[in-house]
Amino acid sequence: MVLLFKSDPDDTRGWTAELARRLPGVEVRTWPDVGDPADIEFCVGWAFPPGSLRGFPNLKGLQSLGAGVDHVFRDPDLPEALPIARIVDPYMTEDMTQWVMLNVLRFHKQDPDYRRLQAEGRWDELPPPSWRDRRVGVMGLGELGGHALERLRYFGYKLAGWSRTKKRIDRVETFAGEEGLRPFLARTDILVVLLPLTPETEDLLNRERLSRLPKGAFVINAGRGRLLVDEDLIAMLDSGHLGGAALDVFRQEPLAADHAFWKHPKVVITPHVSALTRAETAVPQIVENYRRALAGEPLLHPVDRRRRY
Ligand code: NAP
Ligand code: GLV
Repeated sequence: MVLLFKSDPDDTRGWTAELARRLPGVEVRTWPDVGDPADIEFCVGWAFPPGSLRGFPNLKGLQSLGAGVDHVFRDPDLPEALPIARIVDPYMTEDMTQWVMLNVLRFHKQDPDYRRLQAEGRWDELPPPSWRDRRVGVMGLGELGGHALERLRYFGYKLAGWSRTKKRIDRVETFAGEEGLRPFLARTDILVVLLPLTPETEDLLNRERLSRLPKGAFVINAGRGRLLVDEDLIAMLDSGHLGGAALDVFRQEPLAADHAFWKHPKVVITPHVSALTRAETAVPQIVENYRRALAGEPLLHPVDRRRRY
């Protein structure tokens, strides 16, 4: 028996139907209509209410409906030793890469400045930046960051990446760990953040670290809102040290109606939609993980509880 925790009460993305279609003969129940807790063997979802996973004596596996699992670790009552999996889906990866491209190109091609000039009815030519000299840096070199870098290579930028453990990537200057962070930031004009939120990465991009970026740099964040300190980002934008930011994720979602980001002239917002998980492409791996969990086999795309991603 599978228990589905949906964040969307209308299930507009079709999870229930897709799971039922691909798991014939398996009952899919929807939280909070659990029935007998002893029936539940596998839970699938996003933002499990704290404590909700405690009451299932036969639970054998947990599947995040997203690539990120910070929502799972927010639960102080998360059952110990329960295998946890996350989504790794080539469709989603490509989707994220396209959102990253949109924003890298937006900033590289000075689109915010030209929109402003258009609004003023001004035919002004700005000094054109060279793509040969543009230094783009990606934080997080996993499924998403690695793929984004692969595509960014086609544009001819000077590329760099930062991760926890050192990587070797063709035509990409790589940096790792705390000691690699300063030189990585210092050489990055357009920073793309695709890190998971963990105790090590929370508030990573604070005033001190943002000030390491060169003057006029841009920040693009689709990792998680809590990687960035909002007030510090706003201060750096207002001081002119940073040229702009494109944000898809926020400390609090939905973003509060009175948050300064909404109307900030240098901030571009999307409402956590850069790479949505699609039932159609993600359910096959969930079905396989259901089978594996019941068979006691290692799950696909397992989460390391110690690293928290
Ligand atoms: P992943 O494959 O697990 O890759 C994570 C990368 O971050 C790895 O390269 C890892 O380094 C690096 N990292 C982790 N902790 C670090 C630290 N303390 N210092 C430096 N580097 C660190 O994850 P992914 O699938 O690419 O996804 C990344 C994140 O994107 C997710 O966790 C989620 O928060 C976010 N996301 C957002 C959306 C959206 O719609 N906005 C959609 C999907 C995902 P190592 O390689 O050395 O381990
Ligand atoms: C979305 O934010 C995800 O983690 O998949």
